[in-house]
Amino acid sequence: MRNLKLVSLAAAVSFMTASSVASAADVEVLHWWTSGGEAAALNVLKQDLESQGIGWQDMPVAGGGGTQAMTVLRARVTAGNPPTAVQMLGFDIIDWAKEGALADLNIQASMEGWDDVVPAALQKFSKYDGKWVAAPVNVHSTNWVWANKAVLDELGIAVPTTWDEFVAALEKVKASGKVAIAHGGQAWQDATIFDAVAMATGGPEFYSKAFIELDPETLGSDTMKTTFDRMGVIRSYVDDNFSGRDWNLATAMVIKGDAAFQMMGDWAKGEFLNANKVPDEDFLCFRFPGTQDQVTFNADQFAMFAQGSEVSKEQAALATAILSPSFQSAFNVVKGSVPARTDVSDEAFDACGKKGMKDLAAAAASDNLFGSMAHGHANPASVKNAMYDVITAHFNGEYDSATAVEELVSSVEIAQ
Ligand code: GAL
Repeated sequence: MRNLKLVSLAAAVSFMTASSVASAADVEVLHWWTSGGEAAALNVLKQDLESQGIGWQDMPVAGGGGTQAMTVLRARVTAGNPPTAVQMLGFDIIDWAKEGALADLNIQASMEGWDDVVPAALQKFSKYDGKWVAAPVNVHSTNWVWANKAVLDELGIAVPTTWDEFVAALEKVKASGKVAIAHGGQAWQDATIFDAVAMATGGPEFYSKAFIELDPETLGSDTMKTTFDRMGVIRSYVDDNFSGRDWNLATAMVIKGDAAFQMMGDWAKGEFLNANKVPDEDFLCFRFPGTQDQVTFNADQFAMFAQGSEVSKEQAALATAILSPSFQSAFNVVKGSVPARTDVSDEAFDACGKKGMKDLAAAAASDNLFGSMAHGHANPASVKNAMYDVITAHFNGEYDSATAVEELVSSVEIAQ
């Protein structure tokens, strides 16, 4: 599995460096939106640009969460051939901006008033040193649970609101012979669950101190041990074939009714919609029990690699297209996320999307909005990856909870 991935990464890099340089009127877009729902959303953007006569050169690098995409990006930049535009998350944007690699979008931003409509929590990652360096396309959040409604109805399970209710529901599903939790054993997916479990276990102050401030005492606390213990409980409700499974295949298990629940960011909704499923009829979306008031967010942004002293015409057109209110609605309706602007109506959104928009506004107003650790919005990649390693080793039984806590403290210290 691992070898295969390496081969495809290497192939992607050599293919792009050797043979295909985007023509002047194209944008070459590096992204990891390769699942059915993600591709459908990306099409909205492609078509928007194509309607303006700007060609789209696709550079997909499969792998949820973007870890592989970021490896390919580094190789492309090292080879002196960066893509025109790149999907990026949180601290990765800032890291590239610090290297002076990103184009300045201030002209577009000031002409179009981005400062006034993009939430402050996102601007923190879109701007560096007073300059806009990325165009935010959405706001996702990670503390969601997706459920097959028919399975829950059949087993008489109500939407759980506490950890204990959730475990009781998982037990019922397991006893029925179905898979309780659809999960893909990949580091970023393990961490996505951990995000929510940590928030539910310790609350917002704990989350913030541990994952944003990296306070050693909080990282090494009993609450952190309980968080790992709960990850162990979750582990006992996934099926035997979870290892290495892609996230969208896990979503498909819930869509088909083979599994009851998936804990995943709201890109999972894109898969349900792509399979013509309807919220509240076929599937349910709810916040991970115990995190009803919180939102752990990540936002996909497109950063433009500087290819001269000014942003190119095509890069400017891409940025403008991304920020337009009608695009923000059309794209996010399909993607499962919510708009990266505060002035877009929720009219076109389904029940989960409306809830997502309401939750985001409420969380922002009540200090309950936090950057997701799992998706690069709490700390730079070095720290994030150190956390991934510990969470995944524990999930796979390499560490008991006490050891995981110790490892978390020491590896975060080393990674800083
Ligand atoms: C996230 C990204 C989402 C979604 C997901 C799975 O990091 O923000 O847009 O694509 O990965 O691929």
